[in-house]
Amino acid sequence: MDKIKALAIDGPAGAGKSTIARAVSHKLGWIYVDTGALFRAAALSLLEQGISPEDSAAISAAAPKLRLDLSIADGVQHVFVDGRDVSGEIRREEIGKAASAFAREDAVRQRVLVIEREIAAREPVVMDGRDIGTVVLPNALAKVFLTASVEVRAKRRTAELREKGTEADFEEVKRDIAARDEQDKNRAVAPLRQAEDALLLDSSALTIAEVEQRILALVREKEAE
Ligand code: DC
Repeated sequence: MDKIKALAIDGPAGAGKSTIARAVSHKLGWIYVDTGALFRAAALSLLEQGISPEDSAAISAAAPKLRLDLSIADGVQHVFVDGRDVSGEIRREEIGKAASAFAREDAVRQRVLVIEREIAAREPVVMDGRDIGTVVLPNALAKVFLTASVEVRAKRRTAELREKGTEADFEEVKRDIAARDEQDKNRAVAPLRQAEDALLLDSSALTIAEVEQRILALVREKEAE
């Protein structure tokens, strides 16, 4: 299988994927694509249509009609639903939770998959998500599975929320993260798992700079092969 110039970064919620992916994409000069944002935008639209994550029939009917778009200007990604920029709105915690629930549905995944593959076919990407190395871009040049303990991820997420001025209770954040892990790992379609050829990185005891260095070294090594 021919490799494509892409770096796939998968892992659970709060592992630091977007921070790392963004930093690495700057260094490589590749486009950063946050696929979680596409699932969040799909979830927002389905919720606005009054559809529940439990209603498979309604989701299957609505998903193919979802008008999702992604544009990248000056390295910043914007996500659109029906032409409306929802990049800010989709960051709410309840949208993350709903995205995880709707992402169990094959119809939603198929809709998002088309967009993900179109972008990666156009230009070199650093793409982060749950199933990039396993399903979306199995032929990516380099793959990383980035994880960290639930404790560490909950601590980071709590600090991040408080920094933004949002009240956050550590125990509640931890429960939410653990629940999202279970849902993302145990779904039937494209579950969260490490690709066989992915480098496993546990960021619990590593700094952002260390994680970044290891990933850049991996990409350089793969490019030289
Ligand atoms: O990374 P995030 O928190 O923005 O993602 C929100 C949810 O979207 C996540 O809990 C599961 C789903 N998702 C997915 O199933 N596959 C991806 N490639 C990215 C996200």
